[in-house]
Amino acid sequence: MKRYSHPRIKPPFFKNPLLFCICVFSVCSVKAQNTDIPIETQNTALVLQTDRNNGPHIVYFGKKLKNKSEYDLVQSMYEQNMDYTGIANSPYTPAGSRNLFEPAIEVTHADGNNSLDLKFISAKTEKISDDISLTSVLLKDPVYDFQVTLFYKIYFKENVVEQWSEIKNNEKGNVTLHKFASANLYLQGKSFYLKQYHGDWAQEMHPEEEQITHGIKTLDSKLGTRADLFQPPVFMVSVNQSSNEDNGEVLLGSVEWSGNYRTDLELDNKNNLRIISGINNYASDYPLEPGKIFTTAKFLYTVSYSGTGDASRQLQRWARDYKLLDGNGSRLTLLNNWESTYFNFDEEKLKQLFNDTKKLGVNLFLLDDGWFGNKYPRNNDRAGLGDWQENKKKIPNGIASLIKEANADGVQFGIWLEPEMVNPKSELYEKHPDWVIRQPKRPEYYFRNQLELDLSNPKVQDFVFGVIDSLFIKNPGLAYIKWDCNAVIYNAYHSYENNQSKLYVDYVQGLYSVLKHIRAKYPTVPMMLCSGGGGRVDYGALQYFTEYWPSDNTDPLERIFIQWEYSYFYPAIASSNHVTDWGQQPLKYRVDVAMMGKLGFDIPVSKLSEKDLAFCQSAVKIYNSFKNIVWHGDQYRLQSPWTNDVAAIIYVDSTKSSAVVFNYLVNNRYNTGSALPVHFKGLDANRKYKIKEINLYPGTHSTLKENAIYSGDFLMTVGFNPGVNADRPSVVLMVEEVD
Ligand code: GLA
Repeated sequence: MKRYSHPRIKPPFFKNPLLFCICVFSVCSVKAQNTDIPIETQNTALVLQTDRNNGPHIVYFGKKLKNKSEYDLVQSMYEQNMDYTGIANSPYTPAGSRNLFEPAIEVTHADGNNSLDLKFISAKTEKISDDISLTSVLLKDPVYDFQVTLFYKIYFKENVVEQWSEIKNNEKGNVTLHKFASANLYLQGKSFYLKQYHGDWAQEMHPEEEQITHGIKTLDSKLGTRADLFQPPVFMVSVNQSSNEDNGEVLLGSVEWSGNYRTDLELDNKNNLRIISGINNYASDYPLEPGKIFTTAKFLYTVSYSGTGDASRQLQRWARDYKLLDGNGSRLTLLNNWESTYFNFDEEKLKQLFNDTKKLGVNLFLLDDGWFGNKYPRNNDRAGLGDWQENKKKIPNGIASLIKEANADGVQFGIWLEPEMVNPKSELYEKHPDWVIRQPKRPEYYFRNQLELDLSNPKVQDFVFGVIDSLFIKNPGLAYIKWDCNAVIYNAYHSYENNQSKLYVDYVQGLYSVLKHIRAKYPTVPMMLCSGGGGRVDYGALQYFTEYWPSDNTDPLERIFIQWEYSYFYPAIASSNHVTDWGQQPLKYRVDVAMMGKLGFDIPVSKLSEKDLAFCQSAVKIYNSFKNIVWHGDQYRLQSPWTNDVAAIIYVDSTKSSAVVFNYLVNNRYNTGSALPVHFKGLDANRKYKIKEINLYPGTHSTLKENAIYSGDFLMTVGFNPGVNADRPSVVLMVEEVD
């Protein structure tokens, strides 16, 4: 098909640009026409340029060029369809003026007018550290007193960018924001491939990949709280061809927002891809008062030109260094009582469990749901949420005495909370019906028999903070919190505010304000982000949490797939993996899978056979010996469970002197196993390594040659056969450098 081209295809604004070189050692700013703004990480450049009318454009987004002055030549190499709007490649597409595509921002001005145009005013870059810089670009409407500042926070070494916007109303009256994205990218390429995720309870992180076709593909959530239950906000876009672990140009992105999000991917008439991502504007027209600023959520992305494995290691490193709470620290191993007791326990039983915790050799006992509520005791999931006082029958001597008992056994004590929630059968609901999100004129509708508290209300924020604060004040020895969130928002209505369209956004901001408050007072206490499984994992929340709960599905076979996909976006140190009785696999297999992250147990220890107990005890010791490699090292995915009979993953320490390799049989058809060697990655080709099978079940012996030595070159070129088969369905290997 002949492409329509127009004599005006080369827009005049690419002529005579005044090059602006980003100033990295001090704050510097620029205010000029025809400005180039290259925003560069170690490997990628996003180059903004203004036209002669000060309109901002993205003129390049791709692999960094050696010579900055050549960014200016990029657009002259493209002979694409005409841009009818002149703003198709806007870094923040405004609606209502010349735009014909999905906008990043849409507003109604104080005078009722719906049009917006954004012109470049100035840009500046501040150096925050050796690694981090922040570029801000101020845009203003030439007609209305309305401005947007675009922020680009660069993590140079990690090739990670966080983008967000500040929207400021300088008009005389309220402006309504109908859409208020974090970021607007514009990609040029032959074709684009989207890998996205979907799921449900116990079925988290199912991937799907497709070539992006013309029109708009929207990934979003309207669930309110546990926003990524059906569709997590994380995604990948590959350029020109679908990427694999080691090859391809790929962007991994997500919104840092623990509520409704929306990412639009629009392939336009020029075959270019617009990615617009941020808070979902669904039912969320947001009023902005004069003089006020609306700060959007952050949009996070990393780009690699060497496949999804490299991209994910960049993101994992970034998360550990900069986002996840205590990302480079340590974690507590634990015994949880949820699946061994459910709601049915008392002090005697708990004391026995403290003993089991000690016996197992893990650090902490985690008391789960069911410890609270008196008028409406929490003996099942139909009552008690909101009444955070110890149940006098189950725990007559209170949490303080439990902590004392646990500590006497050398065990730390943690507790489960679901502080944003309320059961209609609770004293809290009776006292404060106005604190509950519900439609006043409609019947209530429940998710797990419960409703959300209205966290947009400062009184509710104080209540939620108070729940945690008073627990710590009364029980200073409390060492861990599992923060759960099992319901979505139905019947979105808050009585605290007349303006109902603020609820979804203000809820999340209210939640963050509580979490900030908690972290200001209790900066280090480990907290697990849980949401009836992995319904709420994102970096907006993870900056306050040390770990997350990927799924209630702890069947190890399922977990291999679930953890595999999560690992593209989140580091192993954050993944709470518990050994439970889910699944058909042997205990060793379950423990091996749980070791690829933060190990915990949720099994009735007292019912374990002597051998099983001895295995678990030894497994905890072995885990302690290599956990730092899993938590702080680099993860390389060796063989995908989706396409192989044997899945394999290696974690390599930063010096490349030791590594742990996990191998699992994921297909139980006749005679399946590791017929071929597994190619290792991440080692040093020039060094020699000794390989030893570890974490064997008592009474079994490795079929592998004891302590054989191979070069890194051999292990990465020929590979190593872990001897996985139906008799040895999971094999863990310790790889150590030898002289
Ligand atoms: C959620 C969590 C579980 C457990 C229960 C308790 O489902 O995911 O781990 O804590 O709540 O009710």
